[in-house]
Amino acid sequence: MNDRRKLVVTPVPPPDLSTLFEGRRVHRLAYTDHSVFRLEMDNIFGGTWVFLAHESQLPEPNDYLTVPIGGRSVIVTHGVDGNYHALLNRCMHRGVELCTTTTGNAKRFTCAYHGWTYANDGRCVGVPFPGPYGSDFRREEFNLGAMARIDVCEGLVFGSFNPDVLPLHEHLGAAADVLRAWRMRAPGGRIEARANARRIAISGNWKLCWDNAADGYHAAFVHESLVSMTNERHGDGKSLSHFDNDPDKLPMVSHDFGRGHQFLDQRPSIADDRWAHARPVPGRDELVAALHRDHSAENVKRWLDLVPGAAMNISIFPNLFISGNLIATCEPIAPGRTHMTEYATTYPAVPDEVNQLRLRFAEDFVNFGEPDDIEMWERTQRGLEIGEIEWLEVSRGAGLPADQLRDGNGVATIPISWETPLRGYLTEWQKLLAR
Ligand code: FES
Ligand SMILES: [Fe+2]
Repeated sequence: MNDRRKLVVTPVPPPDLSTLFEGRRVHRLAYTDHSVFRLEMDNIFGGTWVFLAHESQLPEPNDYLTVPIGGRSVIVTHGVDGNYHALLNRCMHRGVELCTTTTGNAKRFTCAYHGWTYANDGRCVGVPFPGPYGSDFRREEFNLGAMARIDVCEGLVFGSFNPDVLPLHEHLGAAADVLRAWRMRAPGGRIEARANARRIAISGNWKLCWDNAADGYHAAFVHESLVSMTNERHGDGKSLSHFDNDPDKLPMVSHDFGRGHQFLDQRPSIADDRWAHARPVPGRDELVAALHRDHSAENVKRWLDLVPGAAMNISIFPNLFISGNLIATCEPIAPGRTHMTEYATTYPAVPDEVNQLRLRFAEDFVNFGEPDDIEMWERTQRGLEIGEIEWLEVSRGAGLPADQLRDGNGVATIPISWETPLRGYLTEWQKLLAR
């Protein structure tokens, strides 16, 4: 008898979700397990509000954008009626991906396989040679799948597959106020996400971005080379040098807004004259000289203070990160694989030189600082593959009075090194997984 026939695959039972996060520690399987990942895509990316696009990415009627949402491709369209639609990018005939371009302008989408055609609000408007389907074939039964809810806050378009989610404003809570402050920094409140994205592939779990989002503990260590290089070349007081101390003695604070949303507010630690304290960027002198040639000194000073990042790290669970001048999203691919997409932003109401400087600034931190963070996330993922040690410690600040103190809106304000925001998003994560 052939012994190999005795070999059987014993399915590994999925982990008990209720024990993966215990308030002060989180289990490694939250970052490495395929069944947890599958559930996250269904219950989190398919179960709550997710960020889809900034309105400036599809300003005209019939503009569209394709975005990945928890393993699904979604076409976000701007209908002629002014409404946004979030359509599943999947032909209703035999499942072919319908739209293969990232962005464009189209009234209709026609499937490349057999020519079924859909209007950009999702209606099936054309089935070639329908005769053989018979007289009871109803084209309208083959409209594209669509997200159940779509809404906009401060120019940010969100959607949800879950028809029973809270209204968006309620879901965002106090985070909506800081999103408004971020938008209103722009003259006239007008912001543009520039068309071309910076795309990053990370060998790490998507939640590692969340563990880092409002973490003021790491900056002095992970970004040490950036801080010391800047101090050496340009003198103290520039760029991230405000992190170069005990993080909890700094004026900046973190907020846990509830429902997973976080805010690291660096503004209290930033000098009033932001431009004077900004690290030099390429082309600075020529662009500033051009501004002075054409505009008053007073206007130039006002605009240059808009160039450095907003000093606001606003993270809206589960996939939106507003960091300085950037709008970024995380796209989970697999337990140990994540893509990030980042858009630099400009202000339509300022001279082009100011926006050129903003773009140079948007490149500055992401090129010199973000690789440090990503290196830590990838090292974490490799560390978490070691099965013998099971837990990550996330208890910093837990149980101290400020950790428990919340204002009338349920917002905790805590020192920036505390892991309160991290415990906050894990609480929401666990609640959504158990839906
Ligand atoms: S699969 Fe789309 S038309 Fe056939
Ligand atoms: Fe960092």
